[in-house]
Amino acid sequence: MKKIGIYIHIPFCIKKCYYCDFISYPKSRDKIAEYIDYLLLEIELYRDILKDYTINTIFIGGGTPSCIDEEYISKILDYIHKNYNTSNLEEITIEANPGTLSKQKLKSYKSFGINRISIGVQSLDDKLLKDIGRVHTSIDFYRNYETIRNLGFDNVNVDLIFGLPNQTIDQCETTLKDIIKLDVEHISYYSLILEDGTLLKKRYEEGKIDLPDEDKERYMYHKGVKLLKENGYDHYEISNFSKRGYRCKHNLVYWQLSPYIGFGIAAHSNLDNRRFWNHVNFENYYRCLKYHQLPIAGEEIINRDMEMAEYLIMGLRLIEGIDKMKFYQRFNVSVDEIYGDVFRKHEEKGLISMDENCIRFTSLGLDLSNLVYVDLLP
Ligand SMILES: C[S@@+](CC[C@H](N)C(=O)[O-])C[C@H]1O[C@@H](n2cnc3c(N)ncnc32)[C@H](O)[C@@H]1O
Ligand code: SF4
Repeated sequence: MKKIGIYIHIPFCIKKCYYCDFISYPKSRDKIAEYIDYLLLEIELYRDILKDYTINTIFIGGGTPSCIDEEYISKILDYIHKNYNTSNLEEITIEANPGTLSKQKLKSYKSFGINRISIGVQSLDDKLLKDIGRVHTSIDFYRNYETIRNLGFDNVNVDLIFGLPNQTIDQCETTLKDIIKLDVEHISYYSLILEDGTLLKKRYEEGKIDLPDEDKERYMYHKGVKLLKENGYDHYEISNFSKRGYRCKHNLVYWQLSPYIGFGIAAHSNLDNRRFWNHVNFENYYRCLKYHQLPIAGEEIINRDMEMAEYLIMGLRLIEGIDKMKFYQRFNVSVDEIYGDVFRKHEEKGLISMDENCIRFTSLGLDLSNLVYVDLLP
């Protein structure tokens, strides 16, 4: 049976963070109940489409899945077990915000089979947290973290963002060191992206906030990479670090261009060389499901040229890079034959390193990856 990953989108948060452009809205009891009813309908509609697949990973993301009642999470997972083959399920992740996890909630997650908790900490500096619109403090995180460990969860990820407004290198390092002390299994260390339409971008354009310049931002990245590696973390993807055996199996599905289905508003899917995405607003999403139609807003057929380019672009995010043999096995053509010139050009510039088995980014290449990506696109 073929393996597939499932993503579930929970588009509710307590309050919108100033930097975030993920699809999420302030939570309200009625809205959540209605949304989950439709989400279950969507899960059921895919029963036949996924009958030849076995679910390998589930990622419940958002938004803030931990801000809704655990009964809803239970219903969603029950529906997945009821409608699909889940006998090979290896990883179920839930995204959580500090301050939203009670002992009872975490106990329930454990009983539902959730085996990976991903907490959005962003920073342990309370002033910085306030300045980016987070509703929690570092203490909320430490309290939740203690409960998570006391209940025996042994696969925890912490999301951090660097390059925040007015953030100093010291603040950035202190947060990293404090998280490292906890010995978490996985750390995502993201560079702040100033997204269109966010309050942070507006404030930046109005000159109300200062962001680290590019040199400082890159310094924070490389300093972080060094610190994490020195402390036993495997730098396996541009922004991701794990203890041995704790790479995120679900995110590897995306980076290896393997099949996945996304349920919920705005969720994306990749199946049989077709990429498709759901309606972004509730009304359109509900209307389709009411009539037992898939709530798909658009699709793209991925032809072979595009698939090869995407395979390389996603695969290069992994630090171990592209295995030439795997490329050959997937496309029946050698990567050197088609992209040899592009890779040699960027090898000369010091962005790519190659040997007879592998193609990967150099440290400089990780900073200037876009220069390579544009040359790979058909
Ligand atoms: C989809 S969010 C959901 C996580 C959860 N709601 C939270 O905020 O804790 C996943 C992660 O993306 C990262 N993120 C969101 N917006 C970002 C941005 N503009 N720049 C960099 N990272 C961002 C944050 O680290 C966040 O924890
Ligand atoms: S970062 Fe997380 S909590 Fe903040 S708005 Fe985005 S999804 Fe919601």
